[in-house]
Amino acid sequence: MAYAAGVDVGSTQTKAVIVNEAREIVGRALIDTGANVVLAAENAFAEALKTSGIREEEVEYVIGTGYGRYRVTFGNTQVTEISCHARGAAHMFPGTKTVLDMGGQDTKAIHVSPKGEVLDFCMNDKCAAGTGRFLGAAAAALDIPLGDLGNVAMKAERPVKISTTCTVFAESEVLSWLGKGKKIEDILWGVHLSIASRSTALLRRVGIEDEVTFTGGVTRNAGMIKALEGALKTKLNVSEDSHYMGALGAALFALDHILAGRVPVEEKETA
Ligand SMILES: Nc1ncnc2c1ncn2[C@@H]1O[C@H](COP(=O)(O)OP(=O)(O)OP(=O)(O)O)[C@@H](O)[C@H]1O
Ligand SMILES: [Mg+2]
Repeated sequence: MAYAAGVDVGSTQTKAVIVNEAREIVGRALIDTGANVVLAAENAFAEALKTSGIREEEVEYVIGTGYGRYRVTFGNTQVTEISCHARGAAHMFPGTKTVLDMGGQDTKAIHVSPKGEVLDFCMNDKCAAGTGRFLGAAAAALDIPLGDLGNVAMKAERPVKISTTCTVFAESEVLSWLGKGKKIEDILWGVHLSIASRSTALLRRVGIEDEVTFTGGVTRNAGMIKALEGALKTKLNVSEDSHYMGALGAALFALDHILAGRVPVEEKETA
């Protein structure tokens, strides 16, 4: 049995996935990227090996992806995160035509073919206002753990309209709404709605075709799923493994490489 791995070194979190020949995930790991990008890649891979019970020598090919893909020093090659998220999404949800990857720093809209190839993509420019960082800034300002943001936001009854278009000013806008006596949940839901509206605009640039698959770390935020589904007026494909989608795509490309390099059995016998 051959195994392949993908390591997605994101600006915020590093994900590693190991797949078997049946294209099933047999190991996964997620850690904060931190300042030492090389170490983050090594640690995530080591942890994924541990969870799978597979030895490093059994992993025949490793692909690095994400912004730190060239720092996956033990990797065999690199593939862009756009291609990897598209591949992972089309594998996990075969009806995927549109992918929205919301990470710590960037949001990407991708239009994919039935095989999971990238037909077109679009990324938020230098601005992080439609990304996980905007949520992080709001969470810090309100002193709420990231993992609770969505659930608190969904309690809102009268969401405020967030006018800030820059993450740098998100904190001061949130604090100014607090000062005006607005409820935390109403401010937070306003933040979610603002990100959903920016993401919808980004998706329109590549064309929104059902099914839409949501990937990246922000998929862990149920409030963001609800806000996006409201803005897009469609259900999103999301799974427990959506945070790992880029690493999964990379692992699947790595498996392609292993399988393509194999000599078919008949040829071996006649050679
Ligand atoms: N448990 C959680 N609850 C809510 N949000 C979460 C949770 N875990 C992670 N996130 C969000 O996911 C983000 C990280 O996502 P992800 O790992 O996809 O980013 P990345 O790949 O490092 O970034 P990028 O692709 O922009 O370089 C965090 O910034 C945070 O907003
Ligand atoms: Mg990412």
